[in-house]
Amino acid sequence: MAADSLALTGAGGRIIQPRSIPQDAAEPQTAADAPDVRFEAVGLRYARGPEVLRDISFDLPRGSFQFLTGPSGAGKTSLLRLIYLAQRPSRGLISLFGEDTSGLTRAALPPIRRRIGVVFQDMRLMPHLSVFENIALPLRVAGRKRREYADDVAELIAWVGLGDRMQALPETLSGGEQQRVAIARAVVGQPDILIADEPTGNVDPAMGRRLLRLFAELNKLGATVLIATHDLSLVRSLDVPVMTLAAGKLTVREPRG
Ligand SMILES: Nc1ncnc2c1ncn2[C@@H]1O[C@H](COP(=O)(O)OP(=O)(O)O)[C@@H](O)[C@H]1O
Ligand SMILES: [Mg+2]
Repeated sequence: MAADSLALTGAGGRIIQPRSIPQDAAEPQTAADAPDVRFEAVGLRYARGPEVLRDISFDLPRGSFQFLTGPSGAGKTSLLRLIYLAQRPSRGLISLFGEDTSGLTRAALPPIRRRIGVVFQDMRLMPHLSVFENIALPLRVAGRKRREYADDVAELIAWVGLGDRMQALPETLSGGEQQRVAIARAVVGQPDILIADEPTGNVDPAMGRRLLRLFAELNKLGATVLIATHDLSLVRSLDVPVMTLAAGKLTVREPRG
């Protein structure tokens, strides 16, 4: 398929720009060096239920690529929701981009959330919006002008192999096509962190590997990527750190090297 030969850096090299590394001496050293995500002894319980996450500590260094795995119900989605600030921890400390998130007011969340692209397990496409409008939505919400982004969005849609479905509504797409729309929407705002929750859940293995290449390409451009999946063949296809959740606890296995 044509999309296989496309690259995020291709065709004018402007769809996704490499993430800039701060060079400004005025930039506090700690913030620039800090991991994008840091969990310290984080616990999470829903209402009066048991703790579903217990004493979770890990870093996602800037520009890293990791998998998060574990059986269904282990807490993968919960952990991701903590990262993109959809959920507050019951205890422990979560820092994003070197800043403690515990004191953040509701008003302080949107600018941080804009730096985090999320591929939701249930995709959450807007049913009344076309493929183009769904993917452009984060840019529109951020107040960008359509004439400034229209070409870039079209280019990204072609890159994910949906160039001929640009005006289609989500319900007319296959599961794999919808998943590619969800992924394109997550990357279009050039997030510093990309979080994907079972992003290959609805596709065959070949499409899964192809979608994985999207994430790898984005990671090469500097984004920090975390992919939750229970698909062990997907996990084995890349030699990267794997975080595993079981019984509320997290273990991290470093790559074989
Ligand atoms: N909103 C919620 N309210 C109460 N319990 C929840 C909620 N979301 C998840 N859980 C529970 O938390 C545990 C972890 O769920 P989840 O994070 O979805 O796991 P995974 O994504 O690994 O399948 C499960 O026992 C689930 O039933
Ligand atoms: Mg889940």
